[in-house]
Amino acid sequence: MKKLAILGSTGSIGHSTLSICESFPDRYQVISLAAGSNIDVAYAQCLRWRPKVISLATEQLAATLKTRLKAADISNIEVLHGTAGSIHVATLPEVNFVVSAIVGVAGLEATYAAVCAGKTIGLANKECLVAAGELIIAAAKKHNVALLPIDSEHNAVHQCMRGGTPQEVKQIWLTASGGPFRNTPLPDFDHITPQQALKHPTWVMGQRITIDSATMMNKGFEVIEACRLFNLPPKQVRVTIHPQSTVHSLVEFVDGSILAQISVTDMRLPILYALAYPERVPSEGKVDLTFDLTTLSQLDFSVPDLTRFPCLRLAFEAAENGGRSCIALNAADEIAVAAFLEGRIPFMGIPRTIETVLQLTAGQPPASISEVLDADLAARQQAREVIAPQFTGVGR
Ligand SMILES: NC(=O)c1ccc[n+]([C@@H]2O[C@H](COP(=O)([O-])OP(=O)(O)OC[C@H]3O[C@@H](n4cnc5c(N)ncnc54)[C@H](OP(=O)(O)O)[C@@H]3O)[C@@H](O)[C@H]2O)c1
Repeated sequence: MKKLAILGSTGSIGHSTLSICESFPDRYQVISLAAGSNIDVAYAQCLRWRPKVISLATEQLAATLKTRLKAADISNIEVLHGTAGSIHVATLPEVNFVVSAIVGVAGLEATYAAVCAGKTIGLANKECLVAAGELIIAAAKKHNVALLPIDSEHNAVHQCMRGGTPQEVKQIWLTASGGPFRNTPLPDFDHITPQQALKHPTWVMGQRITIDSATMMNKGFEVIEACRLFNLPPKQVRVTIHPQSTVHSLVEFVDGSILAQISVTDMRLPILYALAYPERVPSEGKVDLTFDLTTLSQLDFSVPDLTRFPCLRLAFEAAENGGRSCIALNAADEIAVAAFLEGRIPFMGIPRTIETVLQLTAGQPPASISEVLDADLAARQQAREVIAPQFTGVGR
C-alpha cells in the first residue's frame, strides 16, 4: 500500500491524483493533504478522505476550516497552515509517497523537505526543479530518493528511457501542442486577451500553466526540468511542435532509434505511472485510459518559432547561463503572468518583462533553499519594478 501526501490537493493535479486513489483504494491511501485557499474543496476532501493532517495557506483559512470540521463533528483531522504546515504534511512518518503539485515556488520547501525525509516523489511542480533543481537533485541522490515525473512530457521520457542506458541517449524531444496561438501572426500577439490565452486546445489545467503554455514558457520550464531530471545539457533537449498532443515525448538513441510514448491526453495516466512505478498496473475496468490507435490519422511535428514565442528562447538561454538565471526566469514569469491576467500588461509584455529581469540577474548558483528563495524574491521585486511603468503607460 502506498501512503500518500498530496501537496496541492485542491488543484487540477490534486483532483486527478485523488481520482486515481478513488479507482485503486487497495493500492493508494491518502494520509495527508496540503492546499492553498480553496476552503470549500478542502473541506469536501476532508469529509471524503479523512486525512490525518491537512494544511492550508494561512492561519485564518486553517481556523475557518477547523470551525467547519468541528461543526460537522470531525475532531480527528489536524489542521495546519503555511509552509511549516505543508512541510509537516509532506514529512509525516507514515507517508511514503509525496505528490508535489502545489503551483509555483510555494511548493518548494515542502518538496525539498520530503526529499530529505527520504519520501518517493511524484513531481508535477516544475517550478521546484527550475528554481532549485541542482539542490533537489543532489538531495535526492544523497537520500536515495526516486523523483518520478508526473509532467506528461517527462513522464513520457522516463518511460522511453527504460529502452536504453543514459549513455545510449543522443537527445530527447519534448513535444509541445503549440498552444492556442500556434498559428497566430506576430502582429496580433499584443492584442491577445487573458480569456483567449486561458483556452488551451488540448489540456485543462490551472491558470498559470495555461498561460505559460500559451507563451510556450511552460515548454521552456520543461526544457530546464528535463536537463535536471535526466542529467542532460540543454543542447541535448529539443522541442518539437506536435499539435495532436498524442506523442507525449520521444527519446532518440545513438543508433538512430527513436522511442515515443503515445497515450490519451489525461493526466491520470502519468500520475498512475508514477504512483505504480516500477510496476505497471492494469487500468482497464478501473479508470478509462484507453487510447484507440485506429483513430490516429495524422501526426505532425514542426520546429517552434522563437520569434513569436521568445519565452522558449529565454528559457534555453537561462538553462545555458545557469547561476541564478533559472530562478529569475520562473519568478519574473510568475509576476508577469499575474500582471497579464489582471490586464496590466499585454501578452508580449510577459517575455519583455522576463528578458529585462534576466539582464539584471547575476550571481553564483544558490547554495541553499533559503538562497533560492532570496533570489526568487529579488527577481519578483525586479519584475514588479519593470511592470509598474508599463502599467502607468497603459492607463494614460
Ligand atoms: N495541470 C496539469 O495538467 C499539469 C501538468 C504538468 C505539470 N503541472 C504542474 O503541477 C503543478 C500544479 O498544477 P495545477 O494545474 O494542478 O495547478 P492548480 O490547479 O492551479 O492547483 C494548484 C494547487 O496549489 C495549491 N496552492 C497554491 N498556493 C499554495 C500555497 N501557498 N500553499 C499551499 N498550496 C497552495 C492550490 O490550492 P488552492 O486551489 O486551494 O488555492 C492548488 O491545490 C504546477 O506546478 C504545474 O506546472 C500541471
